[in-house]
Amino acid sequence: MASGQGSNFEALVRACRGGPLNAEVVQLVVNNPVCGARQRAKRLGIPCQLHDHRDHSLRQDLDRQVAASFAASDVDLVVMAGWMRIVTPVLIAAYPGRLVNIHPSLLPSFRGLDAVGQALAAGVTLTGCTAHLVEEAVDAGPILVQAAVPVLRSDDHGSLAARIQAQEHRILPFAVALAALRLDQTGAATPAIQG
Ligand code: GAR
Repeated sequence: MASGQGSNFEALVRACRGGPLNAEVVQLVVNNPVCGARQRAKRLGIPCQLHDHRDHSLRQDLDRQVAASFAASDVDLVVMAGWMRIVTPVLIAAYPGRLVNIHPSLLPSFRGLDAVGQALAAGVTLTGCTAHLVEEAVDAGPILVQAAVPVLRSDDHGSLAARIQAQEHRILPFAVALAALRLDQTGAATPAIQG
């Protein structure tokens, strides 16, 4: 699931194609018709489904459509790779323990919008990114993987966001593998990291 440029989506696809993640990205869902993620899906040959949030007055209705798309493709695990909408219990309950989010801060610090700006405004010297399982509270749920990123005196929003994203691309495949491992312990068939 992506709303923006889709760099995390592409990192996941690359981790599956010749990378360490023994999984397949079967579908991308976007909520924005002109997002970069949609272009990347086209270039990478991944089927992309558009569910424009502006077509739904209720968040639950959007989530119902998104979940139906995934069910039709028989997906095992869903990744919110820069999904800028709040998800509801409709989607969370459809993928219990199978819904992973990536957020550009060391949670529980700087939840919500513009976590990079929040970190700069707070004057912290260390921030980073977190991949976690999704629960109902925004940017909360069991943490899978985190990476720390120092804030440099020379940083502006763009430079810090870029270094955080580089770490997101590194940790997200491992978070997917860890989520899969947790499911494996309950007997479900899952993807895995190799090597
Ligand atoms: C990522 O940095 C991700 O952490 C953030 O959106 C960006 C998407 O970039 N997500 C959130 O802030 C969600 N709370 P991308 O489209 O290039 O992957």
